[in-house]
Amino acid sequence: MALTVGITFDLKQSYPKELKSSADADCELDSMETIAAIAAALERNRNRVIKIGNAREVIKFIEKIKPDIVFNISEGILGRNREAQIPAILEAYQIPYTGSDPLTLSLCLDKSMAKKVISYSNIPTPDFKKISEAEEIQELHEMEINFPLFIKPCYEGSSKGIRLDSKIKNISELKKKTFELLATYRQPVLIEEYLPGSEYTVGILGTKKPEVLGIMEVKSTSKSEEELIYSYEIKKDWENRVQYICPPPISPQLESAIKKVAIDSFKALECRDVARVDIRLDKYGTPNFLEINPLPGLMPGYSDLYIMAKSVGMDYDVLINKILFSAIERYPHLRINDTRNLMT
Ligand SMILES: Nc1ncnc2c1ncn2[C@@H]1O[C@H](COP(=O)(O)OP(=O)(O)OP(=O)(O)O)[C@@H](O)[C@H]1O
Ligand SMILES: [Mg+2]
Repeated sequence: MALTVGITFDLKQSYPKELKSSADADCELDSMETIAAIAAALERNRNRVIKIGNAREVIKFIEKIKPDIVFNISEGILGRNREAQIPAILEAYQIPYTGSDPLTLSLCLDKSMAKKVISYSNIPTPDFKKISEAEEIQELHEMEINFPLFIKPCYEGSSKGIRLDSKIKNISELKKKTFELLATYRQPVLIEEYLPGSEYTVGILGTKKPEVLGIMEVKSTSKSEEELIYSYEIKKDWENRVQYICPPPISPQLESAIKKVAIDSFKALECRDVARVDIRLDKYGTPNFLEINPLPGLMPGYSDLYIMAKSVGMDYDVLINKILFSAIERYPHLRINDTRNLMT
């Protein structure tokens, strides 16, 4: 039996103009091309698809539409609970949906909260401090962490608020940048130890037995700039400034250490169906957790997950339907009615 699948999302063009406090304000949000590609992938696997839209549209239409399940990629607009809003509404109406639940989505979005759970789970992650008010900067001399440091907004994505000067070498740079980020992004900042090593991002699919889809190294193309800072400037000009190596030429030991950090993080934060974990090596070569994205980009052709899937011969339609099937596993009434096999 075919399912009616609603898609929930936030489009770049719907970002409220009055809330734009920076040039990168809408960079996390999606384009209509991505929504159309997800819809086409679901339709090719015999689903009926309804493009619902953002949280306000969900509230308006959900009782009329009554989808069997929602494919959720909504990033939300404001605050650290923005990604949790649609899943929370869907739970109120007992409508199944793909991906992580509201608690996990909020927990992962606030990097300092995620890092507390990660540290408790004995997964390596840089020491950190969350600064909510400018006055707290006076307490910084008590920090046991040493320069260089890295500074970023506490709950953003797509390198919003991360620039080439986010690596901090001394106290005056730290003060200046802390004030700037607090004023521009209107949320706490996260200050953490700078990790000088190589950078990897790891795609994960599944829930009970999550599996690594692929490991991708992100490397600077510049010869002088040895250490990558995968900032907003670099992500915008990615074609010229970074190379993506999937799979990377690493030892079996490093590969299994990276996979362990990724899978352990996914499980510790109780993610579901899909996520992407960003990992960087410390000065000893140990993989550390940087952050996890339970709503990773799914743009066809360019997104990290697309590249990882391609590297193992999995086409985009299969990637999208695997996320849906992983979610269906949670809902017995959908599993019984759904006699289709995952397209291969
Ligand atoms: N502690 C750190 N040490 C060194 N580099 C860091 C550190 N934290 C972040 N970075 C650099 O900044 C980049 C962006 O950081 P992070 O992944 O936390 O931001 P994001 O905006 O959530 O990213 P995404 O686009 O994956 O959502 C990282 O990919 C890395 O290059
Ligand atoms: Mg990241």
